[in-house]
Amino acid sequence: MTPRNAFLVLMFSIISFAIICSSHASDSITSNQSLSGDQRLFSVGGNFVLGFFSKDESSSKFYIGIWYKRVSELTPIWVANRATPVSDITKSLLHISKDGNLALLEQSKSLIWSTNATISSNFSTAAVLQDNGNLILTDADNSSNIFWQSFDNPTHIWFAGSKIKLNQRIISWKNSEDPAPGLFSNVLQEDTQNVLQWNMSQTYWTSGPWNGHIFTGLPEMTSNYPFKLTRVINSEESYFTFTLVGNALGPFVYKIDVSGQMKAMMWIESTKNWTSVFVVPDNQCNVTKFCGPFGSCNEQRQQHCSCLKGFSQRSLKDWALSDYSGGCVRATPLQYCDGTGSDYVGERDKFFQMSSVRLPDDGQSLLVGSDDECMQACLYNCSCTAYSYNGTSCTVWYSDLYNLQDQYEGSGEGTLYLRLAASELPSHHKKGSVSGLVAGLVAASLVCFGILCILVTLRRRRRRAFKLVMGGLVAFRYSDLQRVTKNFSDKLGAGSFGSVFKGVLPDSTAIAVKKLEGLRQGEKQFRAEVSTLGTIQHVNLVPFRGFCAEGKERLLVFEYMPNGSLDSHLIHGNDNVLGWSTRYRIALGIARGLEYLHEKCRECIIHCDIKPENILLDAEFNPKVADFGLAKLLGREFSHVLTSMRGTIGYLAPEWITGLAITPKADVYSFGMMLLEIISGKRNRKQLAESGDYYFPAQAVVKVREDMVQCLLDDRLQGNANMDELVIACRVACWCIQGLESQRPTMGLVVRMLEGITEVSIPPIPGIFRGLGIDADE
Ligand SMILES: *[C@@H]1O[C@H](CO)[C@@H](O)[C@H](O)[C@H]1NC(C)=O
Ligand SMILES: *[C@@H]1O[C@H](CO)[C@@H](O)[C@H](O)[C@H]1NC(C)=O
Ligand SMILES: *[C@@H]1O[C@H](CO)[C@@H](O)[C@H](O)[C@H]1NC(C)=O
Ligand SMILES: *[C@@H]1O[C@H](CO)[C@@H](O)[C@H](O)[C@H]1NC(C)=O
Ligand SMILES: *[C@@H]1O[C@H](CO)[C@@H](O)[C@H](O)[C@H]1NC(C)=O
Ligand SMILES: *[C@@H]1O[C@H](CO)[C@@H](O)[C@H](O)[C@H]1NC(C)=O
Ligand SMILES: *[C@@H]1O[C@H](CO)[C@@H](O)[C@H](O)[C@H]1NC(C)=O
Ligand SMILES: *[C@@H]1O[C@H](CO)[C@@H](O)[C@H](O)[C@H]1NC(C)=O
Ligand SMILES: *[C@@H]1O[C@H](CO)[C@@H](O)[C@H](O)[C@H]1NC(C)=O
Repeated sequence: MTPRNAFLVLMFSIISFAIICSSHASDSITSNQSLSGDQRLFSVGGNFVLGFFSKDESSSKFYIGIWYKRVSELTPIWVANRATPVSDITKSLLHISKDGNLALLEQSKSLIWSTNATISSNFSTAAVLQDNGNLILTDADNSSNIFWQSFDNPTHIWFAGSKIKLNQRIISWKNSEDPAPGLFSNVLQEDTQNVLQWNMSQTYWTSGPWNGHIFTGLPEMTSNYPFKLTRVINSEESYFTFTLVGNALGPFVYKIDVSGQMKAMMWIESTKNWTSVFVVPDNQCNVTKFCGPFGSCNEQRQQHCSCLKGFSQRSLKDWALSDYSGGCVRATPLQYCDGTGSDYVGERDKFFQMSSVRLPDDGQSLLVGSDDECMQACLYNCSCTAYSYNGTSCTVWYSDLYNLQDQYEGSGEGTLYLRLAASELPSHHKKGSVSGLVAGLVAASLVCFGILCILVTLRRRRRRAFKLVMGGLVAFRYSDLQRVTKNFSDKLGAGSFGSVFKGVLPDSTAIAVKKLEGLRQGEKQFRAEVSTLGTIQHVNLVPFRGFCAEGKERLLVFEYMPNGSLDSHLIHGNDNVLGWSTRYRIALGIARGLEYLHEKCRECIIHCDIKPENILLDAEFNPKVADFGLAKLLGREFSHVLTSMRGTIGYLAPEWITGLAITPKADVYSFGMMLLEIISGKRNRKQLAESGDYYFPAQAVVKVREDMVQCLLDDRLQGNANMDELVIACRVACWCIQGLESQRPTMGLVVRMLEGITEVSIPPIPGIFRGLGIDADE
């Protein structure tokens, strides 16, 4: 098996995991049948499937659910045991119990879940999966005698045919993988208002009353709405239900999402994804307590939640799974209050100013006359977490802060002074900056076209006139480059997209000249692209010195790096083995360089080709990322070359193969793969080739989870490594190579973890390693 095939097989194991068909091709369970393991029920028309599923890549938590058979993205529309998963599906059993109910047993004895209907003892019952997605429990001899049905017991989705009854509630999943009831729910109330609530009580959105045709606050329902809502009132019951309008429609659901938003979603077969028809509330930040305590919401940021200055995520793992409800915790404990709240010790706490924020709404007004008095009122009460003084009125907060929003304009806007330990705000504290929010710098919305991300909030710089020197770059003549490279005779390497030659300028500066191949763009466009590359400067990026564009020739000129590329020191048998501290410093430097490319520079760039060959080392072994910006220069050509290139395949994130959009998280994946190689001193893919069942990255995850990281270390180091750093590096690598990009940390977070500022929790086993003889969580 070639490495590429192996990789594809890995990818397939995720996709096919939940869709394995079995021989149990029935639509019902009767009293002498049961369902277990991979067995499934299939509705008669082939629309729906019932069986065990898991969305959790890391552990073995399984649920009985119903999903669309033809929707390739596993989408449960109903879940039986949503809060009580089973761990071993081969030892779990869905059957008709003695009392006639459909029941789920684990280890064939303990009751996990039951339809729990009252059935008189002389009925023999059967459970049938109908082709509209309804699971019904009926009299086996008379199917119109229904004892229980899933349509009457919806979990997180309304769909065509469901009965939406008064006070009936659908509740969001806890996070993107865990179907247990979360904090957000949708319920129809007495006055026929459709409302969204936090924790079953705090309403954050209402539809307006039913006017006989629509909910008045939901105008989306009138225009091009693909389903029709009707109210049914008869002698037995009163409910709303909807039917799909038009027969060309694909699967359609109305779902309470983990984001707290209600989403009307339709499956688009051509793009193979769910698309939102409409979403309420439109603003993510209007969802009550979405970012949890001490979190702040921002509509413009792609990642809406971030922690306030001086705070960090309570649970990285929850955040990675889109559950922000745990919010943030203080990074440095307050030193001023002695814990009993009755005495002041140590240095006075300080207040950090945050302007243009939506103030939390549960503050208390104090009658004081000035800013200073307001501050003191807060300072001298140890339960006070923040204050705000607007010129006339003082408001203080005595508990966790919720519902903060930054870069906010609107009612409730103000300036908040946040209590922090003095050490969090050394010397001067900057006034009036929103940059206090940890992720404040991290971009507004990232718009992707092709494989390049650009910060839309920043205007692109244009240059017109090009002289010899442009933006600090030299526009070389081809003949000059020919001369200084001795007619391209000293080849440093043949990398991706062209060969690199050494040259020496007349002032004896050594340079590396890359002759690009396969570049088809015109000179003007090339110059424009290159000039933006010239503005990208960071101590961990190879300094760009100039370029040449004459006729068909396109060359890039960089500073020469005397120690060559990382792979030559790391992997190819070399007498001077890189020591641990150098390796760790190299890893951190690369991470910083990538963080800069992703988050800090003027036009945000995805590298797309991170591997040891593209990391160069200067005279002091400082790492410098090379070839950044090539993805941009080469455009479409680039991804084509990349995905068909053998040498790169071990570093490519799954989304390259599955065709999902490429985001900076693709670089994070490649970085993780490379970090494993930095630790082990060997190629990941070589270790795969040596023995089919020993894929180093998969082994690494297992060892990391068993806390046995020493055995991952390069033998040549003979155990000489800082164990704390080794643990961090191994864990970070395993987080980076998660199959789901949402689970991978950002490069900024990687930097903070490697720096030891943010703790690294134990990584889960990526789903891509299933089927490699590695069990998920015990
Ligand atoms: C199940 O039981 C019914 C009677 O209750 C019987 O007719 C049928 O043959 C049984 N099926 C199997 C597979 O044993
Ligand atoms: C079954 O229903 C009864 C009341 O109808 C309730 O007390 C009990 O908790 C339910 N059991 C389960 C497992 O839902
Ligand atoms: C079941 O039992 C009830 C009394 O408990 C009786 O009225 C009914 O006719 C019985 N049904 C069947 C199908 O035997
Ligand atoms: C089936 O049950 C329904 C409702 O309980 C009843 O109206 C109908 O007569 C029954 N049919 C037969 C064949 O027993
Ligand atoms: C939700 O409300 C219940 C009481 O109704 C309370 O015990 C629980 O702590 C609340 N949950 C959160 C996350 O605040
Ligand atoms: C679905 O895919 C299309 C095209 O691939 C994309 O434009 C759209 O944003 C995707 N929608 C979602 C919800 O991912
Ligand atoms: C968000 O909340 C604000 C104030 O509560 C309100 O004015 C605004 O209309 C809401 N936006 C949406 C989209 O619901
Ligand atoms: C701090 O404020 C709270 C709320 O007003 C109050 O209950 C508490 O007694 C105050 N503590 C001190 C030490 O004044
Ligand atoms: C300050 O806040 C108070 C109470 O919220 C409000 O009545 C007053 O108008 C505000 N003053 C200014 C200047 O915004």
